[in-house]
Amino acid sequence: MRKIRVGIIGSGGIAAGHLRAYQAMDNVEIAAAADIVPGKARQFLDEAGLHDATAFEDHRKLLELELDGVSICTPNVSHYGTTIDALQAGKKVLLEKPMSVTLEEAVHMVQVSKDTGLMLSVGFQPRYDPNTKLIRDVVQGGKLGKVYYVEVGGGRRRGMPGGTFIRKELAGAGAMADIGCYSLDFALHALGYPKPLTVSAMTSNYFGSNPAYHAEASRFDVEDFGSAFIRLEGGIVLQFKISWAMHMDTLGASMFLGTDAGLKVTPYGEGPWSGVWDGQVGSMTLFHDMMGQHTHTPIPRIQHSLNVFEEKVKDFVRAIREDEPAPIPAEEILYNQAIIDGILRSAAINKEVDIDLPSHL
Ligand SMILES: NC(=O)c1ccc[n+]([C@@H]2O[C@H](COP(=O)([O-])OP(=O)(O)OC[C@H]3O[C@@H](n4cnc5c(N)ncnc54)[C@H](O)[C@@H]3O)[C@@H](O)[C@H]2O)c1
Repeated sequence: MRKIRVGIIGSGGIAAGHLRAYQAMDNVEIAAAADIVPGKARQFLDEAGLHDATAFEDHRKLLELELDGVSICTPNVSHYGTTIDALQAGKKVLLEKPMSVTLEEAVHMVQVSKDTGLMLSVGFQPRYDPNTKLIRDVVQGGKLGKVYYVEVGGGRRRGMPGGTFIRKELAGAGAMADIGCYSLDFALHALGYPKPLTVSAMTSNYFGSNPAYHAEASRFDVEDFGSAFIRLEGGIVLQFKISWAMHMDTLGASMFLGTDAGLKVTPYGEGPWSGVWDGQVGSMTLFHDMMGQHTHTPIPRIQHSLNVFEEKVKDFVRAIREDEPAPIPAEEILYNQAIIDGILRSAAINKEVDIDLPSHL
């Protein structure tokens, strides 16, 4: 079987996850890596024993190679430029989340993916937890009746990153771009990605900007908390909340309310960095009536030993090999980005805003 040749753009923290996942596959060759920091891509490849792979500082040089696909693992602000360059150079793309910094960028990325006919997949690994698929089946399989209200989000009591994540110029947004996009993907994926129509939101940064809570408070210029009321097509309301830090243990369970039943779900894991939808599903409970009685039924969690991060990279390689569409299509994630954009716009003016998307996308 021919080896799939890939390159990795950005050689930081998450790039190592992509590298390990590619290395775990027999039929993949990591041909190159690029990082704007001189020497970083070389060190990244050498530490993994990839002495024959080529290192670049400029990702456009990497894109001149014969490659089947690239992983884009740069800070959020570089997702747009590197993705457009990769697609225009004829490469299929696995892009780290969030999709982009602005909605305008996301729209153009989808357009270029369509124009070039090349896959653009966005890396939301929680989708590879079989329990996420189970929830989608429950929600879309009609068990709940008509779903009219969804509450999703997650909160860390204290779990604020630093570095590139807390600067608007690099990350575009804070908790929203880091973990909020996962919550949105979790709910919207379960619902079949209905189109968002309006958003009314607030954001704050009382913790990140306070030296008592964050060692890099003077650099911190993004939101550490956000809450939004989002109208989706099909008469569904999505109540969303996300927190990097708060004086509370949890923002509560997520829930899907339907006319026939309700589904309550919680994320897996515990500790200061848990409580958000960036990993796996913890518990699932169905609330329904049986013979006129209020009943609730725990849905057994599907036990598995999958590494969901590896699964997402594997699925990208499978889609390349089988010439299949993007496993997590940018056309869907465009709606995720549109909501984040709406939240930031609404919060800035303290009013509900419309979400306008090009009608052809
Ligand atoms: N899916 C996940 O679980 C997960 C986890 C963490 C981060 N992420 C995402 O991955 C991305 C990177 O995060 P990270 O934690 O690895 O950051 P990082 O800062 O550790 O690494 C980013 C690297 O990209 C390099 N870089 C910046 N601009 C570049 C460019 N134009 N060309 C080539 N290299 C460039 C930087 O020098 C740095 O080495 C972010 O978008 C983040 O949201 C995803």
